[in-house]
Amino acid sequence: MMRILKKIFLGIIISGITINLTGCEKNHKEIIRIANNQAADHPTNIGLRAFEKFIEGKLGNKYDVQIFPNELLGSQVNTVELTQTGAINFTVASNAILESFDNIYQVFNLPYLFSSPEQYHRVMDDSEIMDPIFKSTKKSGFEAVTWLDAGTRNFYTVKKPINSPDDLNGLKIRVQQSASNIRMMELLGGAATPMGFGEVYTALQQGVIDGAENNELALTSNKHGEVCKYYSYDMHQMVPDILIGNEKFLSNLTPKEREIFQEGFKIISKTQREAWGKAVTVAKEQAKEMNVKFIYPNVEAFKEKVLPLHKEVLEANPKLKPIYEKIQEVGKQLGEEKSNG
Ligand code: GCU
Repeated sequence: MMRILKKIFLGIIISGITINLTGCEKNHKEIIRIANNQAADHPTNIGLRAFEKFIEGKLGNKYDVQIFPNELLGSQVNTVELTQTGAINFTVASNAILESFDNIYQVFNLPYLFSSPEQYHRVMDDSEIMDPIFKSTKKSGFEAVTWLDAGTRNFYTVKKPINSPDDLNGLKIRVQQSASNIRMMELLGGAATPMGFGEVYTALQQGVIDGAENNELALTSNKHGEVCKYYSYDMHQMVPDILIGNEKFLSNLTPKEREIFQEGFKIISKTQREAWGKAVTVAKEQAKEMNVKFIYPNVEAFKEKVLPLHKEVLEANPKLKPIYEKIQEVGKQLGEEKSNG
């Protein structure tokens, strides 16, 4: 039912977009459409709403920012395509699925790439590392404008708790639609079942899959904790979400407008990050009330199985090597800072 409603809604939006493109806009404002697949009260959406307020405060006579949460414009794979063609202006996309649009993003899908949230944040905030990556996808029709925290990904299951990689044997686990994630599951011994985020709840409920992997908010905001009662902190990935914009739209902004947009992107990331920390704490409490049991397995056992993927990916995609090395340097630097107190 939900899916049919979404399809109808998407149809209306797309025809609206066509009408706009033909110049029949009522108030002569240019609509900026931003898609995302999270609930309206999710930190990501809160960040986007702060952007809407900021842009409309500064450029409200020209732009009307409209945000479409809850996969209203389709799954992330669809909304990246809509952003590439310019049918919409921006979408939030998990780094996981971006790798099939531009393989530079493969690097952030590597399991156990970062050894701490501090390293993850420092790398993602480092414009020297990130700017060239964000800009390098212009040939793919989009440019990344900021990143959003999506925490740490862990396995969660309906019936069988995951205490070691062996427990994944033979289990059907939903992964994001990315070759790296499929390969990661293969190395861990589970059966990877790729699908869009919005399909996961029903798939869990109907027993199509035995579990999935995500941050804690999936249990509460997406209600997966209603079905999955075991959440296992194996910490296999910190996969960022990336806000991407249509290349043509961004390059047509005047320098002054671009400056304002850049400020707006910073506001998204700041607002989202502040909301994120609190949201994870609340989600854990809520999940416990839903009778989800949190498990703390030996992480090293999982690491051992998937680390060969680093070499495999770097050999197949050598342009990732300098980025990978810089990430290691940041880790080393952090370690030295810690040991110097
Ligand atoms: C997280 C992430 C989303 C992603 C989802 C998924 O919620 O923030 O961007 O779509 O995981 O597993 O698909």
